[in-house]
Amino acid sequence: MSSYRLRSFSHWLLALFLTFTAVGQVAAQDAATVSKDGVVPGQTAAAAPAAAAGGAAPAGDAAAVAAGDALFKGNCAQCHAVNDVVVGPALAGIDQRRPLPWIIKWVKNSSKMVASGDEYAVKLFNQYQKQQMPNFALSDEEITSIVAYVKSQTGPGAGTKQEQGGSPDQGAQANQGGAAGADDAAGAGKYVNVVLIVLIVVLIVLVVTLVIIANIMKDVLRGRKDLDGRDVELLDQKTDWMGILKSGWFKGVVGTLFVLVVLYESIQGIMAVGLTQGYQPAQPIAFSHKLHAGEHQINCAYCHTSVYKSKSANIPSANICMNCHSQIKTTSPEIKKIYRAIQRQQPIQWVRIHNLPDLAYFNHSQHTQVGGIECQTCHGPIQNMDVVYQYSALTMGWCINCHRETPLNTKGNGYYDNLVKLHDEANASAPFTVSSNGGTECSKCHY
Ligand code: HEC
Ligand code: HEC
Ligand code: HEC
Ligand code: HEC
Ligand code: HEC
Ligand code: HEC
Repeated sequence: MSSYRLRSFSHWLLALFLTFTAVGQVAAQDAATVSKDGVVPGQTAAAAPAAAAGGAAPAGDAAAVAAGDALFKGNCAQCHAVNDVVVGPALAGIDQRRPLPWIIKWVKNSSKMVASGDEYAVKLFNQYQKQQMPNFALSDEEITSIVAYVKSQTGPGAGTKQEQGGSPDQGAQANQGGAAGADDAAGAGKYVNVVLIVLIVVLIVLVVTLVIIANIMKDVLRGRKDLDGRDVELLDQKTDWMGILKSGWFKGVVGTLFVLVVLYESIQGIMAVGLTQGYQPAQPIAFSHKLHAGEHQINCAYCHTSVYKSKSANIPSANICMNCHSQIKTTSPEIKKIYRAIQRQQPIQWVRIHNLPDLAYFNHSQHTQVGGIECQTCHGPIQNMDVVYQYSALTMGWCINCHRETPLNTKGNGYYDNLVKLHDEANASAPFTVSSNGGTECSKCHY
């Protein structure tokens, strides 16, 4: 009787186990196909608008889109986005709203069109608080390429995700590449996580099943009469947890681990004295780089105007904010703070985040303009930060390491021609880094 119950019980267990494994496997397989699909539609979605644009006008279109991309960023992006209203309307679907000749005439001289009484133009002009769009001395072809670019970007989320080269601003370019890459990675990461979770569940089920099976086997063995004393002893053996806890080697291992952790943490603490990495003060106005530099893709240098030209990257004055916020979000309490500062003729009191000691000399233009280093290399993913924080350590070691590793950007820079020749004569196999040019000499960075 009991053996019958036992057998049906183990059958039942086996069935349960098989079901679990099967479900786990199907789920894992699903996850795998979804992960494939998750990538493929992403790619086709990116390719589709381009194909649509190609449908209207035959090949050679990619070049037009690329040219339009650069023209759009250089001339239009401060007021227009493809899928969002910025200062001017969202341009998505413009080729359907208006015929191409109208668009060309409009971009060349919009005020003339409004003055001529064009019904659509007058209505739009009034709708946008009679703001004048500037006139552009662009050719018909250039304007057509901008329209092609807009077409290629139309669609939800398409505008911000799939831009690549051609941007005049290295910073924004890196941020888009970064964002798209991160998206892909996040997508892939999600499926890897699903697969992992399924695997872990399967493992747990396996372990539980094995323990149960082991116990059943023991029960079966206990039922047998032909076991001798030692076998019975083995069968009834229990793990002696208390014994292990009290044993010398256990105490030794735990003690050593404890001392190591404390030592590691204290050393880390001491090394961090005077470091402000991660510093993220609250700012007087809830200004978001994620919104401005990320979503609306405003060029870093639109606000930090001197970053390519001088030692310091200035913080924009309230006037720069007013270029847009005289029109945008005028009733927001945060924006009213800007108006108040202007009324009082007092600057907005931004809290400074990055701050080298006076003994060190750092020059932005040397790094951004001459060295061609992107803002994000030193400042991190600013375009994703709602509130800016100090990304790099800004220690001397950080400066020096990069100077040792980074080859000089000497291309097209006549200043370096002779130095490169001298360096190559002396040792052509070693790269010509910042430090081989004296970038680790004390006096370069210390007054
Ligand atoms: C300084 C801001 C500004 C810039 C720069 C700008 N625009 Fe405009 N644009 C506007 C405004 C504002 C309107 C709405 C009409 C008005 O008020 O004149 C508009 C309207 C338009 C329209 C009509 C949109 C519709 O929905 O019918 C088109 C097309 C257009 N702009 C294209 C361009 C192109 C192409 C460029 C770049 C070459 C450009 N704009 C640059 C501000 C700007
Ligand atoms: C619309 C204007 C605007 C744009 C565009 C903009 N910034 Fe800023 N940035 C500010 C303002 C205002 C502050 C000061 C408030 C703050 O720290 O958020 C600031 C602060 C910073 C700081 C910290 C300065 C400090 O106190 O040490 C860094 C670094 C920075 N910006 C980098 C960038 C980079 C990189 C980009 C482009 C990806 C960019 N900014 C685009 C307006 C802008
Ligand atoms: C080139 C145009 C432009 C400039 C310059 C600009 N902004 Fe903006 N700002 C925008 C746009 C677009 C939005 C988003 C509006 C929306 O969400 O509808 C925005 C939103 C904001 C918001 C959020 C408002 C709210 O209540 O949602 C704040 C705060 C802000 N900006 C502050 C600033 C400050 C401070 C400056 C100057 C350092 C500045 N902006 C410069 C275009 C600009
Ligand atoms: C090689 C590293 C590096 C690069 C590249 C770099 N920065 Fe900086 N940035 C710094 C350091 C270091 C400071 C602190 C300077 C100081 O305290 O004197 C700083 C400070 C700033 C500040 C605060 C104002 C100031 O000048 O002290 C802003 C704003 C800023 N950076 C913006 C930018 C922007 C925008 C870019 C890209 C166009 C950029 N940075 C590229 C290292 C860098
Ligand atoms: C991400 C890499 C990087 C970091 C970080 C960096 N630098 Fe540089 N630095 C460069 C490059 C590249 C050049 C060479 C630019 C050129 O002249 O072509 C350079 C050049 C310089 C020069 C001029 C050297 C010369 O020979 O004339 C000085 C001074 C300097 N950096 C100071 C600093 C200081 C101070 C810091 C830290 C606060 C720093 N740098 C951090 C990459 C970096
Ligand atoms: C590439 C730039 C660079 C070079 C080259 C450089 N330093 Fe520095 N040094 C810095 C920066 C930036 C700091 C500030 C770091 C900080 O605040 O943690 C610093 C800090 C120091 C300090 C610490 C000051 C204090 O208050 O803690 C000393 C001392 C120093 N440097 C000496 C030297 C000597 C000696 C050399 C030549 C062998 C040298 N440095 C070369 C960038 C440089």
